[in-house]
Amino acid sequence: MQTNTHEIADRIYRLSTCVPEVAPGGFTFNQFLIDADEPLLFHTGLRHMFPLVSQAVARIVPLERLRWIAFGHVEADECGAMNDFLAAAPRAQVAHGAIGCMVSLNDLCDRPPRQLADGEVIDLGGRRVRHIDTPHVPHNWEARVLFEETTGTLFCGDLFTHTGDGPPLTDQDIVGPAIEAEKMFHATAISAVTGKTIRKLAALEPQMLALMHGSSTRTRCGESLSGLADAYDSMVKAA
Ligand SMILES: [Fe+2]
Ligand SMILES: [Fe+2]
Repeated sequence: MQTNTHEIADRIYRLSTCVPEVAPGGFTFNQFLIDADEPLLFHTGLRHMFPLVSQAVARIVPLERLRWIAFGHVEADECGAMNDFLAAAPRAQVAHGAIGCMVSLNDLCDRPPRQLADGEVIDLGGRRVRHIDTPHVPHNWEARVLFEETTGTLFCGDLFTHTGDGPPLTDQDIVGPAIEAEKMFHATAISAVTGKTIRKLAALEPQMLALMHGSSTRTRCGESLSGLADAYDSMVKAA
């Protein structure tokens, strides 16, 4: 396995590791590094991937400079290596929403996390990240996304998950492949509010969607979010 790094926007890097066994054509686990005065890593990767991912981070930013560790929700691929990063990066702190901190992270983190209110912004110095609660979307009570305001980048986590080892950025449709992967994995906690929650993200008018699994995109971002919301609404109706 190897971790490939691409700068997908000015000083925003996608670190991508493809694991062939997960799905036909492979399946990517991606982390995103925002290189600002206070660098932020979104997703740590699995604990056993720490050597690969931390080396990839260190090629861009010395680990001693890493200030924030963030992720969408509490699962091994999202945050399995968080304590390894906390140990390697003495200035780093986990930042998450209130539910995540209260239910899991106050206990799981080796140093206390910073608890963020819905809509709260961390000024990274050159970049600004807004924390947005999205309970149970795509799954888990503590689910959240992060919106970087200066580039309009929405860090979507598992939303739009699709298989394959595609390019870092695609201009192809990402809704169809996401629905195919949904049928394969059944990963989303689909409910009456799934579509509504995703439509709120479309209202941010993001300029880039940064995906944890699959290719990111700078094309038709709002339209894709609305399309994904419609697809989940149809699934609820059909059920
Ligand atoms: Fe997940
Ligand atoms: Fe994931």
